[in-house]
Amino acid sequence: MDFDFEVEFKDKAMDLVKKAAQNAVKLGKKGAKLAENAAVVLAKTVKAIKEEIKNDVEAVKQRDPAAKNGVEILLLYSGVHAIFAYRVSHKLYIGKHYFSARLVSQLAKFFTGIEIHPGATIGKGLFIDHGTGVVIGETAEIGDNCTLYQGVTLGGTGKDVGKRHPTLGNNVMVGSGAKVLGPFKIGDNSKIASNAVVLEEIPPDSTAVGIPARVVRRKGVKTDNMDQIHIPDPVSQELCKLEHRIAMLEKEIKG
Ligand SMILES: CC(C)(COP(=O)(O)OP(=O)(O)OC[C@H]1O[C@@H](n2cnc3c(N)ncnc32)[C@H](O)[C@@H]1OP(=O)(O)O)[C@@H](O)C(=O)NCCC(=O)NCCS
Repeated sequence: MDFDFEVEFKDKAMDLVKKAAQNAVKLGKKGAKLAENAAVVLAKTVKAIKEEIKNDVEAVKQRDPAAKNGVEILLLYSGVHAIFAYRVSHKLYIGKHYFSARLVSQLAKFFTGIEIHPGATIGKGLFIDHGTGVVIGETAEIGDNCTLYQGVTLGGTGKDVGKRHPTLGNNVMVGSGAKVLGPFKIGDNSKIASNAVVLEEIPPDSTAVGIPARVVRRKGVKTDNMDQIHIPDPVSQELCKLEHRIAMLEKEIKG
């Protein structure tokens, strides 16, 4: 049999080159597809982040009469910085990168004085005014367009496990120094007065004040009609009784 070693070798080499070229084209196509997908995801993420930043800045513009312009808000409002850091740490937390998530939130706490646990769930347009001393727990949930002032705690009582922190509805305002403790809900459009300590559910459209907090207004109408100023004085009532008794006794003695 006539065997041309050179021709056979050439054919094999050509086959190999052809296959390699085909594989390279396939890989190139896959790479291009991956790059395209990554670009789409990146573009979506950048758009979402831009949208979130816009909402956060807009929330301050609408609710802080002292805010002058967007640049000032973006660069100088510690509440806004804390929320940006939260958005990053929350994404890391969802991706189960717990250490980096916590690292970001602790760095943000160092710079802003605001501690937001990366596991908390926060809606659009949160405004944290002044901010120092604000603490938001891991299982806290905050609806859209809420306002928190300095010194607010959305915390647990230490008695619950699992969901331990409160849920704020939409448009809720929590005044400076107020503590909302426990896994209950604060209804939409409700206001928590400064320095109140809320230990149970507050219905929507309510104003809650005091320690422990009680609802004093519902849709702007007083809920408690008791007059706390013109109340009977028990001491003067007793004195009146005694005066009356003495008069009776004097009358009896005089005959
Ligand atoms: C509670 C608050 C939101 C007002 O809400 P509102 O629905 O308009 O209620 P009103 O002002 O009509 O007050 C309702 C009652 O609660 C009382 N009240 C208001 N704030 C209170 C407070 N912090 N602690 C105790 N009682 C309070 C009012 O005296 C009034 O009492 P009355 O029923 O005997 O008249 C407001 O007083 C407040 O605390 N805002 C917090 C703002 C803040 O933290 N600012 C810091 C900026 S640096």
